[in-house]
Amino acid sequence: MQPEPVRYSRSHSVPDRYAPPLRDEAAAIKEVLASGILSGGAQVVADYEAALADRFGAAHAIAVSSGTSALHAVLHVLRVGPGTEVMVPATAPLPTAFPILTAGAAPVIVDVADGTLGLDPDDVARKLTARTVAALSLPLWGYPAAVTPAAQVLTEAGVPIIEDAAQAHGTRIGGRRAGTLGLAGCFSTHDRKLLSTGEGGFILTNDDAIAEKAQTYTRLGHLTGRQHGAQGRSRPEHRMRCGSTASALSGEAARAVGVREAQ
Ligand SMILES: Cc1ncc(COP(=O)(O)O)c(C=O)c1O
Repeated sequence: MQPEPVRYSRSHSVPDRYAPPLRDEAAAIKEVLASGILSGGAQVVADYEAALADRFGAAHAIAVSSGTSALHAVLHVLRVGPGTEVMVPATAPLPTAFPILTAGAAPVIVDVADGTLGLDPDDVARKLTARTVAALSLPLWGYPAAVTPAAQVLTEAGVPIIEDAAQAHGTRIGGRRAGTLGLAGCFSTHDRKLLSTGEGGFILTNDDAIAEKAQTYTRLGHLTGRQHGAQGRSRPEHRMRCGSTASALSGEAARAVGVREAQ
């Protein structure tokens, strides 16, 4: 028998959310609750980060509390602040630009190259200034955004590319994954994202110094259980880390995506 066709209406919206196959999420969350360690140096967070780094092929993954936090932290690490500029593609939604404004910097809107979602190298060259600290690349709706043409202009100027890959978990271009093409990649794991923890996000980078600084910033001065607090630091720190239950949930999802890809 044919299934009933789905009729879309206001009360039955189009299901645009990717739902990975369920694994042992309930058991993983129960285990976390039984451990009583809901954040801090919980092993489940480190395991989740290891699963992400492995899945995306990055040296470091740092799980944080949202995609906004991921962008905010990376911009902070790059010392984006008042008097600086960050390039954003004209296709970017507001959550890409908000962290630039929060940092007190100026978003500079750059065109995307014809027929692609990559930054237009000519417009990048026109809009580069001595104040440009970074350029954001955006694989919108999961479509890959080429970074190479703009990277040539930006590298000469010493300006790093940061990917806002909030919508592009698993997207590949030239065999490499979105989020690993620039100095750092920022992801959201909000409920409507491809890998979901409800609320959450993560940063990927191959750069040890960026990873260490982002860890420190998002963990209130690197609270590992051995090192404590932000005392003696000259710059403020935040608490933006991902908690244990969210890590358990998304760790399972990350592994499920891996299982699907392997099939
Ligand atoms: C492209 C893009 N960047 C950043 C964000 C912010 O992520 P979050 O909602 O997890 O803070 C989103 C999600 O809304 C997004 O789609």
